[in-house]
Amino acid sequence: MSFIALPKRLRDFGLLGINQRNADFIMRHNQRKLYPLVDNKLHTKRLALAQGIAVPELYGVIEAQYQTKTISEILGKHRDFVIKPAHGSGGNGILVITGCMGDYFQKANGELLSLDSIRHHISNILSGTYSLSGVADQAIIEYRVKFDPVFEDISYRGVPDIRVIVFRGVPVAAMMRLPTRLSDGKANLHQGAMGMGIDLATGISCGGVLRNQPCTVHPDTRESIMGITIPHWNNILHLATQCADTVQLGYLGADIVMDRELGPLMLELNARPGLSVQLANQRGLLDNLQAIEALKFIPEDVNARVALSQQLSSQHPNAGGVENPASVETP
Ligand SMILES: Nc1ncnc2c1ncn2[C@@H]1O[C@H](COP(=O)(O)OP(=O)(O)O)[C@@H](O)[C@H]1O
Ligand SMILES: [Mg+2]
Repeated sequence: MSFIALPKRLRDFGLLGINQRNADFIMRHNQRKLYPLVDNKLHTKRLALAQGIAVPELYGVIEAQYQTKTISEILGKHRDFVIKPAHGSGGNGILVITGCMGDYFQKANGELLSLDSIRHHISNILSGTYSLSGVADQAIIEYRVKFDPVFEDISYRGVPDIRVIVFRGVPVAAMMRLPTRLSDGKANLHQGAMGMGIDLATGISCGGVLRNQPCTVHPDTRESIMGITIPHWNNILHLATQCADTVQLGYLGADIVMDRELGPLMLELNARPGLSVQLANQRGLLDNLQAIEALKFIPEDVNARVALSQQLSSQHPNAGGVENPASVETP
C-alpha cells in the first residue's frame, strides 16, 4: 500500500504504517518459531482440524514428482476442486477448477485445461515455483468452496474471502475481498481482487478499495458494494478468534470463506497480514490496536472477546466507515 497515495484524512485516522506494523506488532507479538505453522497451509489445516475448526475438505496431497500420476485417483468423482501450493501466498499458483467438459477441466475464468496441463501445474508447484522461498513444495488438492448467493452481485466467478485481523486474540478490523475478472477466481488484492471494508460491530460493508484507490462499485458487475450485510457475522468473528488461539500468534490475519452449505470455513492464516484493510475501511488500525495493547486483562472466553472487539469498534469516531460514501471515487 502506498502511503503517499493515501487521502490526507486517513492519516488522521490512526493509520498503521509497515515499519510500525513490523516493529511494534509482528516482531513483538509473533514468535518466529510459530511461523512454520501458518506458512505451510497443510500444517495449518491439520492443526485446525485437530482443534475442531471447520476447513475445506482435503482430497489429497502430492509431495513428489512421481505422485503426479495419482491425480486421477485423488480426484476420484470430484469434478470441481482447488489445487494450491502449501507454501504459496498472494494467490500465486492456485488453480480453481469449477467443472469438467469432456476430458477437459474448466478454470474459474472459463479456460479449459487437459489432465496433462494439471499434472504440469502440480509439477511446477512441487519444484517450488510458487513457494515463499523457492524451496520444494507440496500440492494440496481440496474441496472448492461454493459462495453464498448473497455475494453473487459483488463477486466475479470466484469465492470472496473475509480477512479478519486479530490482535491478542481480539478482532480489530475486517474486510471482504471480492474476486474480479482480473483475479481469476481468487480473492487476493495482488491478483486484482477488490477489498470491501466491514464494520466489526454490525457486519455491514462500509467502503472499498481497488488497486489501492477508494472505490464503492464492483469493477465487473457494476453493483454497489456499500451497505451489504454479511450473514453469520458473529460466527465469522468467533471463528477468527478461535484461529488465533489455535496458533498462538499475537498479531494475525485469518482468511475465512463462507460456503453456501457448510457456512464459515477457515482458509488460511497469515503472520504478516497486509495493511490494505485500512483503506477498505477508510479507517486506521492503530486506535483499536492501542486500545487492546493497553488492556491489562483479556477475557479467555471467545464470545467475550468478540463482544469486546465489537464494543471497541462501535466507540470509534469513524464507526460505520466513511461518512459520505458519495464522495468516494468509483473508477
Ligand atoms: N478451496 C477453495 N475454494 C474456492 N476458492 C479458493 C479455495 N482456496 C483458495 N481459493 C481462492 O483463492 C484465494 C487465495 O487462497 P488462499 O488459500 O488464501 O491462498 P494465498 O495464501 O495464496 O492467499 C482465496 O481467497 C479464494 O478466493
Ligand atoms: Mg490468502
